[in-house]
Amino acid sequence: MYVKLTNFVLLLFDYLNNSYIAIYINKHLMKLHHFLTALFISIFSVSFAQENLLINAYNRESKSLNGSWKYIVDPYENGYYNYRYEPFDKQENPGKGAFFMNAKPENKSDLVEYNFDKSDSISVPGDWNTQKEKLFYYEGTVWYKKSFDYQITNKSNRIFVYFEASNYHTEVYFNGKKLGTHIGGFTPFNFEITSLVKEKGNFLIVKVDNKRKKEGVPTLNTDWWNYGGLTRDVKLIEASENFVQDYFIQLDPNNNNMIKGHVALNGNNIKDKTVQIIIPELGINKAFVTDESGKFSFEISSKKIQYWSVDNPFLYNVTIKTDEDIIADQIGFRSIKTEGSKILLNGENIFLKGISIHEESPIREGRAYSEEDAEQLLQWAKELGCNYVRLAHYPHNEHMVRLADKMGILVWEENPVYWTISWENEATFLNAQNQLNEVINRDKNRASVIIWSMANETPTSDARNLFLTKLANHARQLDPTRLISAALEQSNYKDNPNIRTIDDSFADVVDILSFNQYLGWYDGLVEKCKSISWKIDQNKPVLISEFGAGAKQGLHGDKEARWTEEYQEYLYIETLKMIDNIEQLQGFSPWILVDFRSPRRVLPEIQDGWNRKGLISEDGKKKKAFFILQDYYEKKGSSNN
Ligand code: GCU
Repeated sequence: MYVKLTNFVLLLFDYLNNSYIAIYINKHLMKLHHFLTALFISIFSVSFAQENLLINAYNRESKSLNGSWKYIVDPYENGYYNYRYEPFDKQENPGKGAFFMNAKPENKSDLVEYNFDKSDSISVPGDWNTQKEKLFYYEGTVWYKKSFDYQITNKSNRIFVYFEASNYHTEVYFNGKKLGTHIGGFTPFNFEITSLVKEKGNFLIVKVDNKRKKEGVPTLNTDWWNYGGLTRDVKLIEASENFVQDYFIQLDPNNNNMIKGHVALNGNNIKDKTVQIIIPELGINKAFVTDESGKFSFEISSKKIQYWSVDNPFLYNVTIKTDEDIIADQIGFRSIKTEGSKILLNGENIFLKGISIHEESPIREGRAYSEEDAEQLLQWAKELGCNYVRLAHYPHNEHMVRLADKMGILVWEENPVYWTISWENEATFLNAQNQLNEVINRDKNRASVIIWSMANETPTSDARNLFLTKLANHARQLDPTRLISAALEQSNYKDNPNIRTIDDSFADVVDILSFNQYLGWYDGLVEKCKSISWKIDQNKPVLISEFGAGAKQGLHGDKEARWTEEYQEYLYIETLKMIDNIEQLQGFSPWILVDFRSPRRVLPEIQDGWNRKGLISEDGKKKKAFFILQDYYEKKGSSNN
């Protein structure tokens, strides 16, 4: 009923389209939606129950919990449910059977049927699939345990445990107490442990379950490996009693001599607090006072700003200081806009010379997580001549965007709303919205990040359009400074297969029109590119988010022979010619930089579990098409004038 009601209202809204009435309805519809969402959460207790994300954990004082952890593989979740399949952590006295109690037999007759300390070890960060052969295909629950002592530096301080990511459904326990739950495999979350931490013998126990679910985000079907585990850093962050919880500091999109933003403190004594914003290279040292909720918004004008750009990725040292807390960050100031079919970076038209990347380590197998991994991937992108990367299909680790900030590489970040999501399921929507919250909150101060992508290759329907439109509205509310897009699908123009277009009502919602196209691979042979033209009516910038072909590195033959490097090379040559005719074309990110693992790719001697559309093989060897694209980007220069 609720979905049908909003459906009707939004279709009416679409019809009214941007008139004052529409904006008025939209504002109140969002309020109605938030009220109903809150009601839904409280009634159905959808558990995204985690605290506000600590901003800029990357630069905060912290104690790493990385390294060797103990683990127990628990396919039947015997450590979580009793034999009546009731969760132990919902019981008053869970008892020794609950793995999060980390119980040991108290005497020779005591019955305890697990023992973390006698169990095998595994490294964190890291997926379990490539660390343990027996877990290569494993999808299910694994329990992790880390014991540690902790010396608090100041007894009024507060302590948080911070996870950069854990795939997929994570339950966290500390010293036998439940801290909370997190759903989503690619974004950070944290819990406060101040009242629970001891000087000696703390134990952090984490239940990680990477089982794919129909109602999940992503859902059951993807074209990447479902790496499970504590895939990124885990650390303890100590903060003062009243600390800087959150801030958003960016160039005012409507005035490039104005730095604008807001700051939020966390604590019991945060009202009327003086907070300084210090940017020494701009001679800025301004004090502001918090309101009753410990927040303030600010504007600081400066005519001396050096704008961050791909040629000059200048980052300012920015410090936020209170009488008890100080946090430092490196922030670039730039504006990113669209004007008709142009993308403007600092008011200048820019062509996005891109490549798509999966978060897989080019150095060792498995999920990438380290600065070295990020460096290798972005160095290859630079070598290709890229000024832009599409991080597919989910938020990558923070090293990628921090390095992109430093290297002057523009970034597309994507929420893992991929293929056939359960559009009518409100819990699925809240899950997708929560993951979007987390990536926007983590990266909203990164100059390199210019595009939030809501989804990839999702089938059009009213429910899908509503789902994505709500997400886009939400993203715009959280961050009015960046562009919204999604990888849509192309179709025939008025049933003419030789003319392609974008016929998708979500195209009216996005700022940048992006689509994936596989002419010459899934759609005909390469020759076909010569007979295809494009008719795109929207006066918006066009980004082709994917095109490509599979090639086994080192396999050579004539250019019509699939899987040869020559076929891939030929496809790139003809595709680049074809898309050059798209009037609104502002860039693209071919699929993909490096071959990557996918359980959908089983062709022996060619794929063997790898998607072979990389321009570089999984062991770092460049294929012929790499040099075709490199040459094209070299000739393209940076602007699109
Ligand atoms: C799709 C999809 C990718 C996939 C690629 C392929 O377009 O977005 O995730 O890997 O095609 O088929 O290789």
